[in-house]
Amino acid sequence: MKKIAVVGATGYAGEELIKILLKHPACQITYICAKIDKPQKFSDIFSWAKGRLDLVCDNPDLKKLNQSAEIVFLALPHRTSMEIASDILKAGKVVIDLSADYRFKDVAEYEKWYVVKHKDMANLDKAVYGLPELYKEKIKNAKLIANPGCYPTAAILSLAPLLKEKICQAEGIIIDAKTGYSGAGRKPGNDPFMSQINDNLKAYKIDAHQHSPEIDQELSNVAGESVKVVFVPHLLPIERGILETIYVKAKSEKLKAKSLIELYNKFYKDAPFVRIKNEDEFPQLSDVQNTNFCDIGVKVNSDGKFIIIVSAIDNLTKGAAGQAVQNMNIVCGFNETEGLL
Ligand SMILES: NC(=O)c1ccc[n+]([C@@H]2O[C@H](COP(=O)([O-])OP(=O)(O)OC[C@H]3O[C@@H](n4cnc5c(N)ncnc54)[C@H](OP(=O)(O)O)[C@@H]3O)[C@@H](O)[C@H]2O)c1
Repeated sequence: MKKIAVVGATGYAGEELIKILLKHPACQITYICAKIDKPQKFSDIFSWAKGRLDLVCDNPDLKKLNQSAEIVFLALPHRTSMEIASDILKAGKVVIDLSADYRFKDVAEYEKWYVVKHKDMANLDKAVYGLPELYKEKIKNAKLIANPGCYPTAAILSLAPLLKEKICQAEGIIIDAKTGYSGAGRKPGNDPFMSQINDNLKAYKIDAHQHSPEIDQELSNVAGESVKVVFVPHLLPIERGILETIYVKAKSEKLKAKSLIELYNKFYKDAPFVRIKNEDEFPQLSDVQNTNFCDIGVKVNSDGKFIIIVSAIDNLTKGAAGQAVQNMNIVCGFNETEGLL
């Protein structure tokens, strides 16, 4: 049994991690913490956990954490993980960080978008971007995994086959993305936030969202040339799920959806959590909510000039906690799908 710690256990992603880990046959949760006023049993905070996880959720105590766990999930806000990851790594633990603190190869990009000086440059260089569909071999030996952002997960999986095979142009990619409100983290008692989203749909941070540079970094890597997407996120009045509609210019006007679907199926033949739709079928949120799947549908428009990709994930599972457990499975040599199907 692997001994597991979850830091940030009371947040959306932390709670989701605990739900998944409790069902994982090879894991035992041995330490949980968050920023809380008074340590209390996890099951007193979340009644669903009664009789399943009665551990006390404490404020972070790194000594206790390092004594009790082998794998540590950091489900902390950006800028917070880099304050503690180094000490946990020094104690020989594997760290899987759900924040953006270790996702960027160019520290200047991180510092620009997260408006903070990076505090752990040494480990930033060693971190592996935890998207198993692209980096499984590197993840196997990683000590520090930077779990991808939710929007980037869906965007990168949608575009990687086309950019890798040079089927679409790297310029002029437009990503129209919609998320449920859990993507923004838990906001207790935040009524103005709830009243803004209820019965509503709105765009936000247009061409100014911190996930844009992360998407650009990874797609440029895949394409072998600079990619700069136009990314427009929207907020849906639902709790969980991301749906992205992506428009790219085809390099040839003779493409057929059937051959693109074959390409995607081949590209993801060893990826148990990517499902490619048949021709003229497209993903919907209800198919992926509460699962670790990313569903992708592809279409060529009538004059053959554009390829349209629609993808759907659950932001809390494939976009966060599920993907983090998928990474843990790979690091530990477990079946990649263990605890996730
Ligand atoms: N939500 C998503 O869909 C999603 C998807 C992908 C990645 N992520 C990333 O995952 C991380 C967690 O996101 P989330 O949505 O779960 O956020 P959240 O709901 O705001 O939860 C954050 C957690 O961290 C705890 N915390 C905050 N500051 C802390 C500190 N200094 N020491 C210890 N614990 C501290 C919070 O405790 P209190 O609640 O008591 O303050 C809470 O348990 C973020 O970096 C986020 O960007 C989230």
